[in-house]
Amino acid sequence: MARITAGLTTSHIPAIGAAIDLGKTEEPYWKPLFAGYEWTKAWAAEEVPDVVILVYNDHASAFTPDVVPTFALGCADEFRPADEGYGARPVPVVRGHSDFAAHLAESLILDEFDLTLMYKLDVDHGLTVPLSLVYGQPDAWPVRVVPLAVNVVQYPPPTGHRCYVLGQALRRATASYGEDLAVQVWGTGGMSHQLQGPRAGFINSEFDNAFFDRLIGDPDNLALMPHIEYVREAGSEGIELVMQLIMRGAMGPKVEELHRFYHVPGSNTAVGHLVVRPAE
Ligand code: DHB
Ligand code: FE
Repeated sequence: MARITAGLTTSHIPAIGAAIDLGKTEEPYWKPLFAGYEWTKAWAAEEVPDVVILVYNDHASAFTPDVVPTFALGCADEFRPADEGYGARPVPVVRGHSDFAAHLAESLILDEFDLTLMYKLDVDHGLTVPLSLVYGQPDAWPVRVVPLAVNVVQYPPPTGHRCYVLGQALRRATASYGEDLAVQVWGTGGMSHQLQGPRAGFINSEFDNAFFDRLIGDPDNLALMPHIEYVREAGSEGIELVMQLIMRGAMGPKVEELHRFYHVPGSNTAVGHLVVRPAE
């Protein structure tokens, strides 16, 4: 059967992708940020799963305001990097796992999570920047990816609790897959940031670090935090943090923290990154 072997969270700031693509990672502004991912890159080279369920949000690249699925699962065998207005990123095509995704779709929908199923999906910085941070610039990504896109762009996004229980359902769905697969779940987005309005540039390091502490040690209560608290404490785009609760739900009751990194700023955003493993 398939099993969940590890989880991680990371910010997905588009300027990070541009810094990698344009060879700027050694520049003084970027160097300390990329240093925080060195541990992870070494770990990821040793511990390569078969599949990553990559929880992310589309930023009006594949979806427009005309169609806004709350949860959309990528069921295709490949996903092309999206053109976000300045051309597609020069990164490999993302290989999917249509058989595993079909199983997840069936299991989750019969478990009463009404997902949108995507048989064609272009993936934007929300998905490709985390891959670049963990795997660098390979000719082909070393893992297959099942994208899980969450609406955190247009009101109303799902609650943190809905995300957390969806993660728990993903764990059950993974465990009932017939083939032996090592699966990681990545919850991307965050940390505190606001890209618009009078509070543009807003960052709250105290909140972000407490969020990580609670994500690890007190997820049941963290999942009850209302939207207004995310927006007030973490900025309007800080609502992306609800996606990390999907990862946490998928890990089971207890996790071991393997690595943590927090850095301000990356572009307009607080950069946060965790690597965890389900604990026995
Ligand atoms: C930035 C952060 C994001 O999460 C995003 O989707 C776009 C831009 C930023 O900080 O620039
Ligand atoms: Fe974003």
